Order: sequence, then structure tokens, then C-alpha cells
Amino acid sequence: MRKLSLSLIGLGILMLIAVIWVTGRKAVKQTNPTKQQTVATITKKRPNQPTNGKAIVIYMTHTGNTEAVAKTIQQQVGADSFRLQTKETYPTSYQKMLKVARAEQTSDARPELSGRLPDLKKYTYIFLGYPIWLNKNPMAINTFLSHYSSFKGKTILPFTTSGSSGLGASIPELKQQAKHATFRPGLAITDSQLADRTQPVKAWLKRNKF
Ligand SMILES: Cc1cc2nc3c(=O)[nH]c(=O)nc-3n(C[C@H](O)[C@H](O)[C@H](O)COP(=O)(O)O)c2cc1C
Repeated sequence: MRKLSLSLIGLGILMLIAVIWVTGRKAVKQTNPTKQQTVATITKKRPNQPTNGKAIVIYMTHTGNTEAVAKTIQQQVGADSFRLQTKETYPTSYQKMLKVARAEQTSDARPELSGRLPDLKKYTYIFLGYPIWLNKNPMAINTFLSHYSSFKGKTILPFTTSGSSGLGASIPELKQQAKHATFRPGLAITDSQLADRTQPVKAWLKRNKF
């Protein structure tokens, strides 16, 4: 009889341990959502901030085309933006502008920029936009790049607008100026594609994992 009651007490203790173990497991599951659930919540909270404040769109524009592309990129990635402007006001006449651009290229000029340039410390991704002038980037882009001693740890994503030249011969020039930067393949929008730019911009961003 004594043996039987001892066995029953033992069995009771074992059952109690089992109940505590199962309840404990359930509680842990409820307070620790899976990794997938956590990521989904963060993404939802930042629908327009996939780059988490680490991207900036820096661009130069003369007639507004590059600015239109810059704004589309900015909207898609939730980046900050900065427009580069020269101290000298460029002529609105195409022929006169052509002369100025040619003279700047020939003399390898570094036209002065107006205002304070952004501090790039907090940015990892720099979307850099400009119109193609005489198959190259405007020389003011070189002024901008030469302002910073190093682009170590920065990724530059160039984008251009042009009549038809695409990126032209601008990329080797940029690579020479932006010391230690990592470059991603550029995006070229021609003036005739400008109205339908959203899709190519989105596709380019997707290829670059944005
Ligand atoms: C001085 C100058 C030179 C240009 N050179 C070229 C060129 O070599 N190839 C080309 O396809 N388009 C050329 N274009 C056209 C511009 O690249 C194009 O219109 C661009 O979209 C203008 O951009 P923006 O409105 O941002 O200034 C040139 C325009 C100007 C004003």
C-alpha cells in the first residue's frame, strides 16, 4: 500500500513537471516572434525609408531634366537630396551654353559651386546625377567630387540625362575624381524617355537592391 502511494506521488510530480514545461514553451513562442515577422514589421514602418537615412541624391541640372529623375529616385528610396549649383549663372541659350561647356572642358576647369556642400559622413549611398554635356559630365561635377578627400566606404550610383549619349564618357572621369569610392552601374535616361522614367528608375533601383 505504501509502495503504491509513493508511486502515485512520483507520477504526480512527473505530470506537474510536464505541464510546467509545455506552458513555458508556449509563453516563449508568443513573446519571440519569428525573424520573418520582425523584418516585415520594420519594413512596414518605413515604407519610404528603405535606405534608413543613409542615401542622398546629389544632382546638377540646367533645364530641369536631371532634376525630374532625381526627384523620382528620391521618392522611391526616401533619400535626402541636394542640388549642385555653380556660382556663375549659366546662359539659358543652348548655343551660348555649348560654348561655356566647351571652354570648361578644354581648360579642365573646376567651376566654383555656390553654398555649403553637404557633409557626407552619415551617407553610404550617393546617387549622383547630371546632364551629359559634350559626351561628358559637366566640370562642376568634378568640382563637387574633388571637394572630398576620400569616398572610402561610399557607394556612388551615377545617373544621367542626355539627348542620346547615355552615360557618355562620364564614368571614367567620375572614377578618377572620387577616390576610393565603390561605383554601381549607372542609369541613363534620354530626353525622349523622360516622361516614362518611373519604370526604368524602379528597375535600376531593384537591380541595385533598393
Ligand atoms: C552644353 C550642352 C551640351 C550637351 N551635350 C550633349 C551630348 O553630348 N550628348 C547628348 O546626348 N546630349 C547633350 N546635351 C543635351 C542634354 O544632355 C539633355 O538635354 C539633358 O537632358 C539636359 O539635362 P538638364 O535639363 O538636367 O540640364 C547637351 C546639352 C547642353 C546644354
